[in-house]
Amino acid sequence: MATSPETGVHFDPYAHEVHDDPYPYYAKMREQAPVYYNRKHGYWLLTKWDDCQAAFRDFRTFSSAAGPALEANQDVNAGYPMFINMDPPQHTRIRKLIQALMLPQRIAELEPYIREKAVSLLTPHLKSGRMDLTQDFAALLPMDVISTMIHVPVEDQNQVRQWADDLIFREDGQFGLNERNITAYLSMGSYFDKLATELSGKLAGDDDIFSAILQAEREGKLSHDDVIGFGILLAIAGNETTTKLIGNMCYRLWQHKDQRQLLIDDPQKIANGVEETLRFDGSTQMIGRQVMQDVEIRGNTIKAGERVGLCIISASRDEGRYENAESYDVTRGARDHMAFGSGVHSCVGSALARLEVRVCMEELLRLIPDYEIDEAGLERTHNPNVRGFTHVPVTFTPHS
Ligand code: HEM
Repeated sequence: MATSPETGVHFDPYAHEVHDDPYPYYAKMREQAPVYYNRKHGYWLLTKWDDCQAAFRDFRTFSSAAGPALEANQDVNAGYPMFINMDPPQHTRIRKLIQALMLPQRIAELEPYIREKAVSLLTPHLKSGRMDLTQDFAALLPMDVISTMIHVPVEDQNQVRQWADDLIFREDGQFGLNERNITAYLSMGSYFDKLATELSGKLAGDDDIFSAILQAEREGKLSHDDVIGFGILLAIAGNETTTKLIGNMCYRLWQHKDQRQLLIDDPQKIANGVEETLRFDGSTQMIGRQVMQDVEIRGNTIKAGERVGLCIISASRDEGRYENAESYDVTRGARDHMAFGSGVHSCVGSALARLEVRVCMEELLRLIPDYEIDEAGLERTHNPNVRGFTHVPVTFTPHS
């Protein structure tokens, strides 16, 4: 059986130049090689909506046990186990410990806090008429919010955020982890080890995430390493992707000023604008899986043991699924995109992410509606999974 169709399409998600604009590559793959095989690194990519959705839903064939990165890491749970790297039933048991705390009605209680925080971050810059929307705003708010849930003190937040950035950063063409990534992972491990030990006698009950996790450790449902893994996972997942989505939305609204005006005129539409940004330029581009048994997709056999990337954002631009898929339309409001994944691993923080991004954009468009991006100062994060900016410098009409 053919496992490697010769298509003439070449896509390298590790190349920095691809990160600037991967969308023409996705379009070409959807058209010419919807089940794409990369010979150099030996992985497959699914680029059509139907194929990604089916794979996300079939956890028995498409396993998470070697991690969600494109490159396999068979030892991914050898250090600090994380439930994102597990299959049911183990995954189900651990996810359940925090799931109820992340439901939309529970998360909605955070709205006043998030709004106040957003305003307090924007206000100091209003008089100067310039700021960096990532460094001064989008990177600070999600870290602050997740920190209140996992008890990271204010004075440690920048350090934890720096480790998260270092952990995901990939050099141009880098396949696999380098020393910077590993050092950041180990530093976070030591940090959450110490934090969990300090807090275990102090936090009681299960009213917030870290209390619930420490309670589970006391009851023997989690090991101490599981607790550390939880801390690392939430500090990364609850932080990087939301920060990047805010930056992506600021950028797309600046590019499409008619769309920005629609949201300024009617802030009720901002929630739909968030959905459209998730679909059109989401901050998670792809998620990796390992195939457990031979599977045939569109005439290609993917063999047991091979790696597959589920190309979320390509699926979200699939013309077979969305009309005018390549156009950014904040009134579309489609919620069947896979920006938060799908199936058993679908993002447990999606309600929080939606709330944070909506409130941030409401306050940003209210306080600095006429921001102009200094394009020369834009800087990207480089990672095959995470898409977004580290710097988004803007100017706007100063006011008090
Ligand atoms: C725009 C922001 C976000 C995006 C685009 C995003 C995207 C995703 C995606 C695609 C997955 C599926 C991973 C897989 O199938 O292997 C996922 C899982 C996850 N996300 Fe998010 N996420 C976001 C925000 C958050 C936030 C704020 C949290 C904070 C709690 C969070 C925590 C998690 C966790 C813990 C998982 C693992 C769930 C599991 O394995 O069952 N995410 N996220």
